[in-house]
Amino acid sequence: MLIPWHVAIIMDGNGRWAVKQSLPRIWGHKRGIETVKTIVQVADTIGIKILTLYAFSTENWKRPKIEIDSLLSLLVQFLKNETNKFIKAGIRLRILGDLSKFPQEIRDELNKVCMFMAKNTRFELNIALNYGARQELVHAFKEMLKHGIKNPTEQTISSFLYTAGQPDPDLLIRTSGELRISNFLLWQIAYSEIYVTDTLWPDFTENDLRIAISEFQKRERRFGGVNK
Ligand code: IPE
Ligand code: IPE
Ligand code: MG
Repeated sequence: MLIPWHVAIIMDGNGRWAVKQSLPRIWGHKRGIETVKTIVQVADTIGIKILTLYAFSTENWKRPKIEIDSLLSLLVQFLKNETNKFIKAGIRLRILGDLSKFPQEIRDELNKVCMFMAKNTRFELNIALNYGARQELVHAFKEMLKHGIKNPTEQTISSFLYTAGQPDPDLLIRTSGELRISNFLLWQIAYSEIYVTDTLWPDFTENDLRIAISEFQKRERRFGGVNK
């Protein structure tokens, strides 16, 4: 059976998970990180080659400062803690998003962990941080202008996105049941298969990922053509 090469996930529902247990929202984010650990490992085992996780959007700055600060520090801590494991596992890390909004020390930390894994090629993990697809496109167009590109093709535009060089996601998963894209990878998901589950991200398990993949395997991808 065909394993999707690139899987992208909108990891949603941490807050609702916490509220359901009468816990502060940040506890949901803590549990969400545990799910990230599991899913990275399972995705690699299953044979997925690129995993893109939406961790913080350009719109998430609207949240209370205390939630933003805790969430960002949990994410940075997670990446630092996992660095050695990722290096050994042959995982390469790429951060998608506008890092200029972050304090210099966070940027330094992120650059450092990415550098440590730069030689790895077996499995690519993209973490979308302060990511918004519209911001990504504006950034790409500005870069193209800087490079004097006046007549871009679709390939040129793709090559200026944060996902440059990577094939588009085959499968896009969203947890927690919301039927929207929330400014994620607008360009790259043009032909991705979409799978939405009601399961909240902290409750999302290996089995849920396997179910999403088996749903993907039942889809008939036509890319605008006709099959047989
Ligand atoms: C997803 O969970 C994590 C981020 C968006 C950072 P939420 O925090 O959005 O959880 P809900 O949607 O409020 O339940
Ligand atoms: C999408 O979730 C962003 C991330 C998962 C990082 P949100 O919870 O921010 O999205 P909306 O507000 O429900 O669209
Ligand atoms: Mg949400």
